[in-house]
Amino acid sequence: MKKVFFVALMAAMCATTWAAPAKVSSPGNVISVDLDVDAQGIPTYQVFHKGKAVVKPSKMGFDLAKAPLPGSFDNILDKSKGAALDLRTGFEIKDVKHSSFNETWKPVWGEESEIVNNYNEMAVTLVQPKIQRTVVVKFRVYDDGVGFRYEFPQQPTLNYFVIKEERTQFAMTGDHIAWWIAGDYDTQEYEYTRCRLSEISKRFDDALCGNASQEQFSKTGVQTALQLKTDDGLYINLHEAALVDYSCMSLNLDEKNLVFESWLTPDAQGMKGYMQTPCNTPWRTIMVTESANDVLASRLILNLNEPCKLEDTSWIKPVKYMGVWWEMITGKGSWNYSDELPSVKLDLNDFSKLKPNGKHSANNDNVKRYLDFASKHGFQQLLIEGWNIGWEDWAGNSKDYVFDFVTPYPDFDIDMLNKYAHDRGMRLMMHHETSSSVRNYERHMEKAYQLMNKYGYNSVKSGYVGDILPRGEHHYGQWMNNHYLYAITEAAKHHIMVNAHEAVRPTGLCRTYPNLIGNESARGTEYQAFGGTKPGHTAILPFTRLQGGPMDYTPGIFEMDLTYAGNKSKVLSTIGGQLALYVTFYSPLQMAADLPENYEKHLDAFQFIKDVAVDWDKSVYLESEPMEYITIARKAKGTNDWFMGGIAGMKPHDSKVKLGFLDPGVKYEAIIYADAKDADYKTNPQAYTITKRTVTAKDELKLHAVAGGGWAISLKPIAK
Ligand code: NOJ
Ligand code: CA
Repeated sequence: MKKVFFVALMAAMCATTWAAPAKVSSPGNVISVDLDVDAQGIPTYQVFHKGKAVVKPSKMGFDLAKAPLPGSFDNILDKSKGAALDLRTGFEIKDVKHSSFNETWKPVWGEESEIVNNYNEMAVTLVQPKIQRTVVVKFRVYDDGVGFRYEFPQQPTLNYFVIKEERTQFAMTGDHIAWWIAGDYDTQEYEYTRCRLSEISKRFDDALCGNASQEQFSKTGVQTALQLKTDDGLYINLHEAALVDYSCMSLNLDEKNLVFESWLTPDAQGMKGYMQTPCNTPWRTIMVTESANDVLASRLILNLNEPCKLEDTSWIKPVKYMGVWWEMITGKGSWNYSDELPSVKLDLNDFSKLKPNGKHSANNDNVKRYLDFASKHGFQQLLIEGWNIGWEDWAGNSKDYVFDFVTPYPDFDIDMLNKYAHDRGMRLMMHHETSSSVRNYERHMEKAYQLMNKYGYNSVKSGYVGDILPRGEHHYGQWMNNHYLYAITEAAKHHIMVNAHEAVRPTGLCRTYPNLIGNESARGTEYQAFGGTKPGHTAILPFTRLQGGPMDYTPGIFEMDLTYAGNKSKVLSTIGGQLALYVTFYSPLQMAADLPENYEKHLDAFQFIKDVAVDWDKSVYLESEPMEYITIARKAKGTNDWFMGGIAGMKPHDSKVKLGFLDPGVKYEAIIYADAKDADYKTNPQAYTITKRTVTAKDELKLHAVAGGGWAISLKPIAK
C-alpha cells in the first residue's frame, strides 16, 4: 500500500517542472527542497519558497582526514589513495523515502504551552559505488523552513572517520542584508553588524569589538543563528539544531559568489569531528518567512530536537531570581576574598590566613541583606557568586585545580545562609565558575552536585571563562560540546537545573533536556559595565541567539550611572526599556540584576519585575524588525493575566497595538510603564511614567519608546 502511494507520489512529482530525482514540499506547499547529484557526483540541494529559489544549488559533503577501509579495498584504492577521504564526490542516489509527521507537543516550559510539529520528510540514500559507502541525507520540510542532516549508517566501509571539514553550502540568491557577529571558536560576546553580504569582510575588523581571540578565523566568517533579509522582503535564518557530539558550525562566505560554506570548530589538533557510526550531524536549518514576526514565532529549531528524555520533569521550575552579582561586575565588590595569593591552593586554613580585601561581596551580612530584600519582594532564588575559595587566582596559572566547588570562603556560612533563605521561602542559587578547567570540573562535579542536594540548591549557573587547558580545546568544539551535555545530564540525575555561561550557543537541546533553563552565549547585560552596548542589540538577539533557546541576559538595571561603583561605563538603556526585556526576551530564568538599593529608589517601576511571569500559555508577536523594534504580548501560564513589552533600537519607535488577543468581553486593568517623553538612554534614562487604565479586547493602545528604550504593560482581568 505504502509502496503504491510512494510510486504514485514520485510519478506526480516527475510530472511537475522538477527535473531533480528527489523532491519534497512542506505540508502547506510553502517551502520545497530538491536534491540531485551533479556531474562530479556531489549531492546538491536547492530550497524554494512558493516556487522561487531562496537557496540556489548548494553542494554537500565532507573532506575526511581519516577513514579506514577493510583490506579487501586495497587494490581498488591503490591508484587513488585519496578516495577513502573523499565523502563528497562520486555519489549516486540509491533510494528516496518520503514520510509525513504531525503532532502537537507540550514543552515543560516555554513561550506557549503547545507546539505544533508538522513536516514532510525525505530521506535520500546516497552511495559511493566504488567503495560501497552509504550516507543518508534527511530533510524535514516545514512551512517556515527546512532542516537537513547527514546520517552515517554503520557499515564495513565507514566504521569510524575523522572530519577535516564539512562542506555544506548555502548559496544565496542575492546580496542580502545580514545581521551577523564575527566567526570565532570561543566567544559570541559580540555586538551585531547589519550590512550587505558583500560588505562583511570590510566590516569584519570593527565587528571583532576589539577581541583578539578571533585570529584563527577567516575574515568572511560569521556565526549562526545568522539573520538575513532579501530585497523581496523575505527573512532567512541560518542556524543548526540538536548539536550533539559534533563541532559547532560557523559559516564562511565566498563574497564573490555569495555562497556560504560550513566551517566547523576544530579541536586542538585542527581536526573537526571524530565520528563512530552509526551517527549523524546536527540539523542544518534554513528558516524562510515573509515577516519578521514569523521568525520570532517559529519553532523550527525546537521541533528538530528530540522529545524530552527526562522521565520526571516535575522538579523543573521556571525561576525569577536576584543575585549577589552586579556589584562584582561593576567593580563595587569582588568575587575574591583577598587580594593576596594563597600559598597552598584549596586549603581553607590557608585561605583563612589571607588578609581580607574588605570588598568580598559573598559575605554573610551582605547575602542576608539581599535575601531580606528579595524575599520581601517575592523572588524565588538568590544567586551568589564568589562564595567558594579559589577566586584569588581564578584566571591565573593555577587554574587546572583552582576551584573545588564545595569549600566556602571563611565569611560565607553555607549552613546559616541556606537556612536563612529557606526560612524566608527562598533558595540560594549555586555558582560554578570553572575558569574552563574542564577536567577539574568533571572530577569535582559529583561532589559539587551532592553538596547542592544537601542544602536544597536546585539550580546552578556555570561558567567557562578563559582558555580550555590543558588540552587547548575550543569552547565550541566537539569535545567541549560533549562536556556541556555531560554537565546537563549529570545535573538532571540530581534534579538540578543548569544555566551555562560562555558555553556553545544553544540549538534547541532544552526540548530534550528541559533542565537546561538558560545559557548566556551572547553579549549580555554585563557588557553595559564593560564599556556599554549600543541600543539595537536587544532587538536582534531574539532573531539570532534566542532561536536556539533562552538566554540569561540579566535585565533590570535601574541605575544606569555606575559611578557609585567607580565604573565609568554607562548602561545604554532606559528603565522603560529594561522592563520591556522581561517580555521581549523569552526565558524561564529571569534575573532582576540590579542592587537592592537601586531598586529601593524606584519601587513603583520594580513592581512590573515582581509581577511579570516567566512561563507562558501563549505568545503573540505583534510587530518587529531586527535591531529596530520588537513588540510582544504573552499570556501567563495557567492564568488570565497578560504582559506586553516593546523595545526600540537606535531610533525611537511608536506603536499602535490592537488588544484583540485579549478575551472578548473581559475588562482588564492595564498598568503601563513607559519611557517619559523626555527620557533619553544617554542623558535621562530614569524618566518613566506609570499609568493605569481599564481596557478590553476592542481597545488600541498608542505607545512610544525612545531610542534604546521601551515600555511594559501588565494586564489583569478585573474581578466582576
Ligand atoms: C562571566 C559571566 O558571564 C558572568 O556572569 C560571571 O559573573 C563571571 N563570568 C564570573 O564567573
Ligand atoms: Ca560572559
